[in-house]
Amino acid sequence: MKGKDTLAEILEHILARRSIRKFKPDPVPKELITQLLKAAMAAPSATNRQPWEFVVITEPKRLAALRQRLPFGRYTAPLAVVVCGNMRRALPGPGRGFWIQDCSAAAENLLLAASGLHLGAVWVGVHPIGLFARAVAKVAELPKHVKPLGVLYIGYPAEEKAPRTQYDEGKIHWQRFGEHTPSE
Ligand SMILES: Cc1cc2nc3c(=O)[nH]c(=O)nc-3n(C[C@H](O)[C@H](O)[C@H](O)COP(=O)(O)O)c2cc1C
Repeated sequence: MKGKDTLAEILEHILARRSIRKFKPDPVPKELITQLLKAAMAAPSATNRQPWEFVVITEPKRLAALRQRLPFGRYTAPLAVVVCGNMRRALPGPGRGFWIQDCSAAAENLLLAASGLHLGAVWVGVHPIGLFARAVAKVAELPKHVKPLGVLYIGYPAEEKAPRTQYDEGKIHWQRFGEHTPSE
């Protein structure tokens, strides 16, 4: 396969990922869950510390508890993956906060893999809202040193969304902020 074809396919794939909030009740097979987590754990992380942990939730009771406690995440999906940061593996000192970027990269990898497997998924934000973090920590029984970044609801999609970019030249700055014309 030529490089150009590969790039076009990758871009097409990235644009096809959309937030899906309506799901069929069918369970996601374990093999697919493993593939999603392999994609997540391929993400880049600061000094490759891989501070992530993933709590895979399929029990209806726990899924219902998540829905009840996350007002912006009341979606009926057969699967939720809680993406967490393990503070014992986070960088020490001023770099500690990189766990958020590390785990966000893992979350986006997982969402892209879900879309590639024709699954629907949506990211529901938890960190830095303390109320949501405490609620999710309780449902997933997280120890104190493990912080929830977000909840990814996943399942077979019961809605369709068109691929799209949100490309906006106004957000691109050449050489210095505010310069929108590329120099020669
Ligand atoms: C950090 C973060 C938090 C989000 N929180 C929620 C949420 O609580 N509920 C929700 O329905 N969608 C949530 N989303 C999904 C966004 O609403 C969605 O990505 C955005 O509207 C763009 O749509 P798209 O994902 O289809 O491109 C979140 C996304 C991110 C990255």
